[in-house]
Amino acid sequence: MQTIVRLADYRPSDYLIDRVNLDVRLHPTETRVTATLALRPNPAGEPGAPLHLDGDELTLLAIALDGQPTGPGAITVTPRALTLHQPPQRPFVLEIETQVNPSANTKLMGLYRSNGVYCTQCEADGFRRITYFLDRPDVMAVYTTRIEAERHEAPVLLGNGNPVGQGEVGLTRHYAVWHDPHPKPAYLFALVGGRLGRVGSRFTTMEGRDVEIAVYVEPGKEARAGFALDAVARSMAWDERSFGRAYDLDVFNVVAVSDFNMGAMENKGLNIFNDKYVLASPDTATDADYANIEAIIAHEYFHNWSGNRVTCRDWFQLCLKEGLTVFRDQEFSSDERSRPVHRIAEVRTLRARQFPEDAGPLAHPVRPQAYREINNFYTATVYEKGAEIVRMLRTLLGPETFRRGMDRYFSTCDGTAATVEDFLAAFAAESGQDLAAFARWYEQAGTPTVAVAGGYDPAARTYTLTFRQSLPLVATEAAASAAPRPLVIPVALGLVAPEGGAVEAVSERVRDGVFVLERAEDSLVFTGVAAAPVPSLFRGFSAPVKVEHALTRDERLTLLAHDSDAFNRWQAAQSLALEVLVGRAKAGAPLDPEAGPGGAGLARALATFLDGEALADPAFAALVLTLPSEQEVAQTLGSEVDPDAIWRARQTLRLQLGRDLGPRLLALRDALAEAPGAPFSPDAASAGRRALRNAALDLVTAADPGNGTTLALAQLDAATTMTDRLAALATLSLVPGEAREAALARFGEAYRHEPLVLDKWFALQAMIPEAGTLDRVRSLMGHPAFSLGNPNRVRSLIASFSLNNPTQFHRPDGAGYDLTAEVVLALDGKNPQVAARLLTAFNTWRMVESGRRLRAEAALRRVAEAPGLSPDVSDIAGRSLA
Ligand code: PHE
Ligand code: ZN
Repeated sequence: MQTIVRLADYRPSDYLIDRVNLDVRLHPTETRVTATLALRPNPAGEPGAPLHLDGDELTLLAIALDGQPTGPGAITVTPRALTLHQPPQRPFVLEIETQVNPSANTKLMGLYRSNGVYCTQCEADGFRRITYFLDRPDVMAVYTTRIEAERHEAPVLLGNGNPVGQGEVGLTRHYAVWHDPHPKPAYLFALVGGRLGRVGSRFTTMEGRDVEIAVYVEPGKEARAGFALDAVARSMAWDERSFGRAYDLDVFNVVAVSDFNMGAMENKGLNIFNDKYVLASPDTATDADYANIEAIIAHEYFHNWSGNRVTCRDWFQLCLKEGLTVFRDQEFSSDERSRPVHRIAEVRTLRARQFPEDAGPLAHPVRPQAYREINNFYTATVYEKGAEIVRMLRTLLGPETFRRGMDRYFSTCDGTAATVEDFLAAFAAESGQDLAAFARWYEQAGTPTVAVAGGYDPAARTYTLTFRQSLPLVATEAAASAAPRPLVIPVALGLVAPEGGAVEAVSERVRDGVFVLERAEDSLVFTGVAAAPVPSLFRGFSAPVKVEHALTRDERLTLLAHDSDAFNRWQAAQSLALEVLVGRAKAGAPLDPEAGPGGAGLARALATFLDGEALADPAFAALVLTLPSEQEVAQTLGSEVDPDAIWRARQTLRLQLGRDLGPRLLALRDALAEAPGAPFSPDAASAGRRALRNAALDLVTAADPGNGTTLALAQLDAATTMTDRLAALATLSLVPGEAREAALARFGEAYRHEPLVLDKWFALQAMIPEAGTLDRVRSLMGHPAFSLGNPNRVRSLIASFSLNNPTQFHRPDGAGYDLTAEVVLALDGKNPQVAARLLTAFNTWRMVESGRRLRAEAALRRVAEAPGLSPDVSDIAGRSLA
């Protein structure tokens, strides 16, 4: 049983490390690392305490204290720890030589090889797999790193900070020295050595610093790195404009590797990326890929201030860097693209990933109070809900005060390892507001529900809105939850006249369009209201809550047609559709599309909407046409869920919309067709046109598979972008038959040498909602391009099946659960982090109807009881069953 780490037990380190000199001699199986550590007792620690350095799978070769070998009994060493029993109570130097095997490192934590390239991943606790160290983020040191390698094997040698030296070693070897002047925790350490292609540019900061930017990729793929390179420069400029933050080194390097557990990593001056989030060309990357690359490049770059210059005191504060940095990258994407469209995308992710997490057995506060395995807390809650908290803070304080609070946070905490309290204190100081109640957002798990009722009094010409907030009781690892206390919830709102147009009405409790709900129940009165209005609530999704509001269908149609807030127009269409879907799923979803109310009305409203403005904002129109996901319907049903009934409900509504809107959708496809020979652009407007054309194709095909197949085959042939090609293939993949199998085979053959494109092909097949998919996935696991050793392949084939194919993961016979459990166990010995993440697919097991539930539980128990489980998987299994 692993031990639980608790926030309440935090103590400063007994020793500090001021300077680290590393000498790394790269070798495929016997890399030697000599670490020279300048240590001293921490005045805030316990005097005379033994020094415990962390290790993980390390072999100690030599150790010296102040240049002398340590005496007998002075130290105790295991692969996991090195203890110096009586450290000097003055500054001292430890020199430690260890040996590691990068080729055997399948966990992809510490120093490993990917495609022959040496690279490192140290967050959260991978540095201890390189050398014995105080591997905790509140120990910050200045690093100098010397990297030595065979020149033919690793002509490129990169480290943190600035390059300060290089040279030859004998006939075949060479070295490079890097110095990072900014003190940093060990988790931000990185080095790279390999044969890599490079693209570069320069950026002059507002402080006049001339920065050399470079992106390194597999040789031959340089042409695919240009978009990422440009995104770096745009991120630098944006952070100066929007937050007054400039880059602080002479070089900024990005390296793409093909084996990576996560998306990317913000190592100081040397960001290391999953190549999926760097490489892009029109022929291999979709519009969604371009948008992700831009966002993740920005995210990692923005960490240079929110994460690196100001880091986290301990891992409980993870949201301090991640929530804030997600907020910052969301703002960047909104500014570079379309704000309402991006907001809708953010909310869809939140609802698809974070709401289910918060409603299931893995629920935890944005700042957890306890963990067994920190790697399992890089979650949608910490990232996405964490970003929503920062957004609410801005809404509550207003943009100017928020910006001053950010400036104060960066300047007062610069160079330190900070806490959520430090962050909030900066905003409290700038605003003069007490943020103690607001801070509950960090402590209380679960998605709040806000129930709203409106009442119009024609005689008094008043309109009253009553709000009631409630929070689920969530018991977490730390404790059985105390009764939750009310949250501070910003409600951005407005009133819309039934025939359109804003209602001029006042309420002294609404400032700048925001009402702040602080109590469990509260109400607010508008005066001077001439006619019963339609309330538009939580505009722009101003708080991460579920709203219960008894709007009539007509009122929602009014919002869809007339609200000045684009987010709520989309929301109105979504909630109309959700109501139809939930109704049909509950009724057992008869296949007759006329059955059950609402579908025809929704189609009429969408027709009006499309006629009026589809061509003016195609990206927005595509989102309006996209029905809520099966997972969202399941969340709304809450219990005794039958995934097949949900799928049928969605299918009948797609069919109905495709039929009723068919001629319009076909006309839109033609109107939006790309001019022959037009040059490719990944910009938001072009992407939006492609999105609407493809949303139209999807609905048309649902209603008329024959015609849809013809259109999709033609699109597949004519497409000049991966977006259009993949959309056509996705459409075909839903129509069983020869055409589909032939198209899939052709696509797989055409891209057999493009792993990132094959990932899309794997994913698409894994998501086919048919009983045959299980066997298809099993046979694709034998495809030459598939490997359990590569996280991208596992995610594309297996996680797509387990997390994004609800009817097949939840097969009534339990075979979907069994396959997932089997892969988790097979993977756990190689890569526990990726295995644990796959296991989170069982998050919803308690929600499904009893037949499936029993089978899911049995599979989960088989995992939990398997011998020799990693801490990562046993943590997820244990919490899922608790
Ligand atoms: N800190 C990375 C980010 O930018 C995520 C990450 C965590 C990467 C752990 C690798 C390991 O969000
Ligand atoms: Zn991050």
